[in-house]
Amino acid sequence: MFPPVTSGKHSNGFPSLWQGGPTEIACGRLSLMREELQQLQAAAHERIAAATTRSELETVRVEFVGRSGAVTLALRRLGKLPKEERPAAGQLANEARVAIEQALEERRSAVEELERTTAIERERLDVTLPGRSHRLGRRHPLGLVRDELCELFTELGYEIVEGPEVEREYYNFEALNLGPDHPARDDHDSFYITDGVVLRTETSAVQIRTMEARQPPVRIIAPGRVYRRDAMDRTHSHTFHQLEGLVVDRGVTFAHLKGTLEHFVRRLFGDKVQMRLRPHYFPFTEPSAELDITCFKCGQSGCSLCKGSGWIEVLGCGLVHPQVLENVGYDPEAVSGFAFGMGIDRLAMLKYGIDDIRLFFENDLRFLRQF
Ligand code: DAH
Repeated sequence: MFPPVTSGKHSNGFPSLWQGGPTEIACGRLSLMREELQQLQAAAHERIAAATTRSELETVRVEFVGRSGAVTLALRRLGKLPKEERPAAGQLANEARVAIEQALEERRSAVEELERTTAIERERLDVTLPGRSHRLGRRHPLGLVRDELCELFTELGYEIVEGPEVEREYYNFEALNLGPDHPARDDHDSFYITDGVVLRTETSAVQIRTMEARQPPVRIIAPGRVYRRDAMDRTHSHTFHQLEGLVVDRGVTFAHLKGTLEHFVRRLFGDKVQMRLRPHYFPFTEPSAELDITCFKCGQSGCSLCKGSGWIEVLGCGLVHPQVLENVGYDPEAVSGFAFGMGIDRLAMLKYGIDDIRLFFENDLRFLRQF
């Protein structure tokens, strides 16, 4: 591209055709300079035309007409020409500079337009492409059932309260009428933290804390985790979940309890099942009962779910024992109440047909994704 007649190089690598040397003086520096400027200009125009981004254009500008660009350097070297050639040479160099700057300017607006359209093209959203679906997490079945129960009872005006999982023996046992020698206390097989402090074995402890803290009327449910020293098997877990209910007011009767439980059974198990209240014993209620429903799996003809009996045990309940009311400073002559307690894990197993409680705690995604 450039003839090899040179005595030096510009910083940008363009060979200089006319930098001082006796030969060049002899053949006339002005014509050499004209030739070089023409070549520089041609090279610049070629590069400008090829540039597609502003930064490419900027590189071209720096190389040719920047502070140490080829054309700028040519202008600076005018002083080396014989006096009479300087004006003409200066004009040539200036013309070259102006021409290149003008070409840069023109190309710049074209390049900006080009950059805009490629950006738009790149960012275009193709709404006809198939969507990418995200795998959503699932609710844990225990959470689903707990929330369903909470909704059911809050609709009836119950308030949700919570209590500590590390509980005083007094709240977990004594205040609920389970004295130190009470046989029912053996069933619970508790985890002791220190003397007098246990991992709660039942959410019933929240009854006492609530009644101690407020005056009737009381209408609460208390969902939460409970712990018992049970060996793990299909139906036992050292950690499980209960939901406790408590209503205390003037004139609360067993009929109120029954009506409430009927509503609960309809909502959770539908219209087809029937219920019965079977006399039972709990230290903190008198009278006490267990609620059974007819087996929704076999329709009472007897199956593995109801163990052939046709009935499924659902929860424990009763009228709050007068002694319990007295323990919290209520007057059993003035107010009465009912209470019920159910296992959330057990209800979830019934509802979803799960036959092993351990599945709830294993965090096996293949199991959890089914809900
Ligand atoms: N606390 C009992 C248990 O863990 C469940 C229970 C039964 C709670 C009867 C009650 C109730 O409030 O009235 O087995």
